[in-house]
Amino acid sequence: MKKILFAASEAVPFIKSGGLADVVGSLPKALDSQYYDVRVILPKYACMKQEIKDKMEFVLNFYMDFDWQQMYVGVLKAEDRGITYYFIDNESLFSTETIYTGDALFEIKRFAFFSKAVLSALPLIDFQPDIIHCHDWQTGLIPVYLKERFQGDLFFHDVKTVMTIHNLKFQGRWNVQEVEDITGLSGYFFTPDKLEFNKDANLLKGGLVYADAITTVSPTYAEEIKTSFYGEGLEGLMNARSGDLRGILNGIDYEEFDPANDPLIAYPYSIQNFRKVKVKNKLALQKKLGLVEDEKCFLVGIVSRLTDQKGFDLIAHVLEEILSTDAIQVVVLGTGEERYENMFRYFDWKYHEKLSANITYDNTLSHMIYAGADAFLMPSLFEPCGLAQLMSLRYGTLPIVRETGGLKDTVKPYNKFEGTGTGFSFANYNAHEMMRTIRYAEQIYYDKKREWNKIVEHAMSENFSWDVSAKQYQLMYDWLIG
Ligand code: GLC
Repeated sequence: MKKILFAASEAVPFIKSGGLADVVGSLPKALDSQYYDVRVILPKYACMKQEIKDKMEFVLNFYMDFDWQQMYVGVLKAEDRGITYYFIDNESLFSTETIYTGDALFEIKRFAFFSKAVLSALPLIDFQPDIIHCHDWQTGLIPVYLKERFQGDLFFHDVKTVMTIHNLKFQGRWNVQEVEDITGLSGYFFTPDKLEFNKDANLLKGGLVYADAITTVSPTYAEEIKTSFYGEGLEGLMNARSGDLRGILNGIDYEEFDPANDPLIAYPYSIQNFRKVKVKNKLALQKKLGLVEDEKCFLVGIVSRLTDQKGFDLIAHVLEEILSTDAIQVVVLGTGEERYENMFRYFDWKYHEKLSANITYDNTLSHMIYAGADAFLMPSLFEPCGLAQLMSLRYGTLPIVRETGGLKDTVKPYNKFEGTGTGFSFANYNAHEMMRTIRYAEQIYYDKKREWNKIVEHAMSENFSWDVSAKQYQLMYDWLIG
């Protein structure tokens, strides 16, 4: 058995703020369990649900040198659908009200602690991984600490590391002096060829320099991050390591997201009967949200973190025009930057029958939107992979996306000459290009319903389950283990 340890800051069903949690929560199960013993390690946050914490059992504790102190490290354990999860406990660092705090220095401190604690705990819990698979900046110091101090120990001698980039924008940066002080790493590590970045220390960069292999979550994003527009200042490093960098598309859990078998939607449907049944979910959604109940009206869904990344400034630019003239309804679900939350609240007030703003996190409502909407809007500025468009495809809700990152790799634009495609897309980050694309989709929907339904059929026939991508990870693991 090959042993793989996933290290991350979040995973479904334990704690989630974004797509990272979906991936860390579903990829381990998709790997071949005959051949790989995959376990996951996360921090134990006080803000996890009580019923989740009740499932954890205490394994052991120890004290670790960190930030000039002896710090308590507790290790807990839980099983979820056949996978063992470990949790690193330290109340002074992880007893926050929300998963992340927005206090950059504190975040660096707690995840540097987590990274060192993960490595320190392994010999004690007697799990000797062949590969530690690290996710995003929070675990960037694992490959660094491994090379710096742990690898001298026989236990760690053959351990390899993989660093997966889910979002290059977040890097964990702070001034070198304080990071040196907190982490106990010597000045040797803080030069521009290692952790230093524009005079700051950069934890993700550490992971990207020291990991044995690097992946990101779509082939297109793997290319994009070698350019200055998408590279977030690390494009030079991404080019330098391009031989070790690969893009592997995320999948989604096809059991959880299954329109034919989804307890969260009122009228389950399949590729055979969506023509009759899907629309009932639209009516149910309109009713629940107080929109005009009209099965014919073109309904566009948005389920997203409300951040710059997702293209909301394009929407802000043309939403008034769309709502004031088009026969359209828009349903929004998500939380995030206040200016976008308020924008949607304003339009909800002004066009109450046409737009429903749900500024909250609501899993049931998200499934109702994937099932009930006709189209799904995702005009991202950049998108490492994107999961919502995969869920929409699965539910036959046609994505309208910008051609970037994983969106470009997963949505095939409708081609009226060949009758192919699974959605609609536009190339440039331009509000009117987006609006034209929405209107084109609208026109097909209203005037060529048979054609529309054919696209829905194509969308529902795609396969973005983990089957394909898990095999690509396995190939990489085997290549690394040798
Ligand atoms: C981040 C990215 C998103 C990706 C997800 C999981 O949230 O922004 O594109 O799908 O991570 O990899």
